[in-house]
Amino acid sequence: MQLSFEKSVPGRRSHVVAPADVPAEPLDGLLPPELRRCEPARLPEMAEPEVVRHFVALSRRNFGVDVGFYPLGSCTMKYNPKINEAVASLPGFLEAHPLAPDSLVQGTLAVLHETERLLSAVAGMAGFSLAPAAGAHGELTGLMIIQAWHRKHGSGRTKVIVPDGAHGTNPASAALCGFEVVTVPSDPEGGVDLDALRGAVDEHTAALMLTNPNTLGLFERNILTIAGILHDAGALLYYDGANLNGILGRARPGDMGFDVVHLNVHKTFSTPHGGGGPGAGPVGVAERLVPVLPPPRVV
Ligand SMILES: Cc1ncc(COP(=O)(O)O)c(C=O)c1O
Repeated sequence: MQLSFEKSVPGRRSHVVAPADVPAEPLDGLLPPELRRCEPARLPEMAEPEVVRHFVALSRRNFGVDVGFYPLGSCTMKYNPKINEAVASLPGFLEAHPLAPDSLVQGTLAVLHETERLLSAVAGMAGFSLAPAAGAHGELTGLMIIQAWHRKHGSGRTKVIVPDGAHGTNPASAALCGFEVVTVPSDPEGGVDLDALRGAVDEHTAALMLTNPNTLGLFERNILTIAGILHDAGALLYYDGANLNGILGRARPGDMGFDVVHLNVHKTFSTPHGGGGPGAGPVGVAERLVPVLPPPRVV
């Protein structure tokens, strides 16, 4: 598709300014010269119907839940109920001021608190921070929690293990957090290769990051064995919750031995970014990590 600049034809206009019905004033008296452009702005010159057609054509290339299912990899496991957008657009949420005093936003705080309790229940975790604004943001937050926990317990562990099928944000978040990334291969069934995992875990391992069901859409059947391998070595198990709705209501990461989880709630419960939705990546922790869960929280 051509850019509007490529469609531009010198002299074409999409507006006609009506003749002034008030006396003309010199421009210098209205706008000081130092605040005015020296050259005209470089804008495409187009007729009005061309402008309309250009932007309508662009809008039709937008992907949204009205035109199809979200097509990105494991995100196809995700469900997009549109009513959530209507609820999120209620004026009470939409027009709430970020600096409003607590006394004026008790309803919003109640919703946040209830959400925190519900997420804890469905994920099997002790508490959540609702601060992170996307899955990848949650990963970084979760890894910083893991780092803080290990420091608090006297060991500055340096390595994070990720399976070779992990979403790219997993190794990226670990590297951004300052960890050395160790990759473990998958077994022929598409799960984590247990022997390779045993060989990779040592006293420097801070955590293993895992998606379950994984990026292939397969449930990791050896999850309890995997949790045992990590915990026996004093390391933690991190749950990437991007695919949570594959198991929602049937199994909980907390019961599988995960210590820290992020949930891409925009995917599990609503329209993902790719479908036009906003994001949120709350991070939940097991009881022993609650002291290092970042504020602010509604308690
Ligand atoms: C498995 C997995 N982890 C993490 C992410 C990152 O989540 P977000 O896009 O909310 O940052 C995605 C996103 O597609 C994902 O599929």
